Amino acid sequence: MAARDIEYFDNVEDLDNESKYLVHKAKEATANSYSPYSKFQVGSALILEDGTVVSGANQENASYPLCMCAERVALYAAASQYPQKKISKIAVVAHKRNHKELTPATSCGACAQVMLEFETRQKTPIQVVMFGPKDKWMKCARVALLLPFGFDKNSLG
Ligand code: THU
Repeated sequence: MAARDIEYFDNVEDLDNESKYLVHKAKEATANSYSPYSKFQVGSALILEDGTVVSGANQENASYPLCMCAERVALYAAASQYPQKKISKIAVVAHKRNHKELTPATSCGACAQVMLEFETRQKTPIQVVMFGPKDKWMKCARVALLLPFGFDKNSLG
């Protein structure tokens, strides 16, 4: 794996400007989290090739398996509203309810799988920015790095 495939930063200020902006929008989106069960507020913001930003927050349900992650809310909103535009980058952040400071949270496997489908479909990489373990900001050059053995349409024949 090349050194620049996944970059780690101690401070959010060390990220590039676009990533910082997406982190800011993702933080804003946490305010729209509906998470009465987990009390874990997640926000995601992605940027399209033309600079349009689409955000999402996790939406929970009393029937727990129906809960939807922030990343997939943002991704499916983008696909529904801007189907022709490629996604360049997605950021995700999380904090516990009534806590201002972010808590490390990397995207779940289901979201990585969905991101992978978007990346494969558009044939260009999607960068992923997350606040990861040990309080390090992570910038991944493409989704495939998060899920090297993801399922894809080739298996379907
Ligand atoms: N969650 C996300 O929004 N994104 C992830 O990648 C992992 C988990 C949400 C789902 C649920 O509402 C809450 O966090 C606790 O799992």
